[in-house]
Amino acid sequence: MHKIAMIGTGLIGRFYTMSLLNFRGKDEIKVVCASKPESAAKFAQEFGIPRSTADMAEAIRDPEVDTVIVALPNYLHKKAVLLAAEASKAVLCTKPLAISGPEALEMLEAVEKAGIFHGYLEDLVYTPKTLKALAAAQKGALGKVLWARSRETHGGPHSDWFWTKELSGGGAIVDMGCHCIEIARNFIGKGIRPAEVTCWADTQVHPIDAEDHAVGLVRYENGAIGQFEVSWTFRGGMDLRDEIAGTDGTVWLNHWLRTGFEMFTGVGQGGYVAEKAEGDTGWLFPVGDEIGSLGYVEMFMDMFNSMDKGVAPMETFYDGYVVNTIIDACYKAAASKKWEPIEVKEWRGGQVNTENAGLKAYDEQHFLIKEEKMPEGKLKIILKDKKTGKVSQIIK
Ligand SMILES: NC(=O)c1ccc[n+]([C@@H]2O[C@H](COP(=O)([O-])OP(=O)(O)OC[C@H]3O[C@@H](n4cnc5c(N)ncnc54)[C@H](O)[C@@H]3O)[C@@H](O)[C@H]2O)c1
Repeated sequence: MHKIAMIGTGLIGRFYTMSLLNFRGKDEIKVVCASKPESAAKFAQEFGIPRSTADMAEAIRDPEVDTVIVALPNYLHKKAVLLAAEASKAVLCTKPLAISGPEALEMLEAVEKAGIFHGYLEDLVYTPKTLKALAAAQKGALGKVLWARSRETHGGPHSDWFWTKELSGGGAIVDMGCHCIEIARNFIGKGIRPAEVTCWADTQVHPIDAEDHAVGLVRYENGAIGQFEVSWTFRGGMDLRDEIAGTDGTVWLNHWLRTGFEMFTGVGQGGYVAEKAEGDTGWLFPVGDEIGSLGYVEMFMDMFNSMDKGVAPMETFYDGYVVNTIIDACYKAAASKKWEPIEVKEWRGGQVNTENAGLKAYDEQHFLIKEEKMPEGKLKIILKDKKTGKVSQIIK
């Protein structure tokens, strides 16, 4: 059983608290912290949490607490993590880990130096659908993953600090690209080094300094491509979709607007429908189990079970650091309009042998290019000679 300090009681602090109290059930939130004492106290009362404060250091140093959960605006993650490292408490930090790669590295070094458990709360790789698809991909069901496309778009976030570049670190890329980049990394393989990025980003609608719309390509050392599409300008709710294509298979995942629950009401239902829903009349797409569908339940299971077993969780601060470094390269590429290198210091994955990667042998002499059953029932097999390079076909 763990005793937790929940630092932040906004949208994500609430989802985390609901996940921890309703599902794993073993752990207790002992203290909660918000910027205003009265909001912290109200939240504590709602969830039966014994103590509340507006002083983050006090909550983190609470003698009963062994685990700190950071659910604060992006610019405050570093401060909370450094306090947790100083107090030798396990620390779980929401996404994005930091507002830049160098800041994330500083946080990674601090937790490693302190020797504390650290987890990166990237919920979207833990949705039940994603976990199942990842397990299939890791068993080889898709062959070599060539292209992982991930989209997160909605009409924009719900608090002022997200819209202020100095406090958030950027716009839609840092806010939502972090999810998409890590989803692609998981499918392509975390041992494969992300090499370079190119990115388009623009501020199309809102009067802000950061981008409210972006598309990026992350090229991995083995030739695979991660593609992210993020927007704070999208109308119609929250669109969360992934498409993974490999040499032997494909996966399409739809996490939010089309989950199999569609409802029409002409009069409204008088309340909340789903995160970022734009209204409550007409055709609606409610989500039966928001906390489960967004991965929070499985994420905390992995975090606390790994802590209990003394092993690293699926997502650590190192992963958060790699993601922040990729995001930094995206901002450079958006400005330069070129491919920019990704500068991960101290790469912990493998090296890739790209020679003949992904090529399938047909026989001793040929690689297989393509097989197709034609309308008249014949099978066409298109081959390439391994020595001469000549392309030919056999019809059976
Ligand atoms: N899917 C996800 O994993 C997900 C979803 C939403 C937000 N987030 C992340 O969670 C973090 C918080 O986002 P949010 O949507 O909950 O924001 P929010 O604006 O809804 O809430 C922020 C919370 O931080 C508290 N806070 C602010 N300054 C503080 C201070 N100095 N001391 C103590 N408390 C302080 C506020 O009182 C509030 O409770 C962000 O990093 C965001 O990127 C993650």
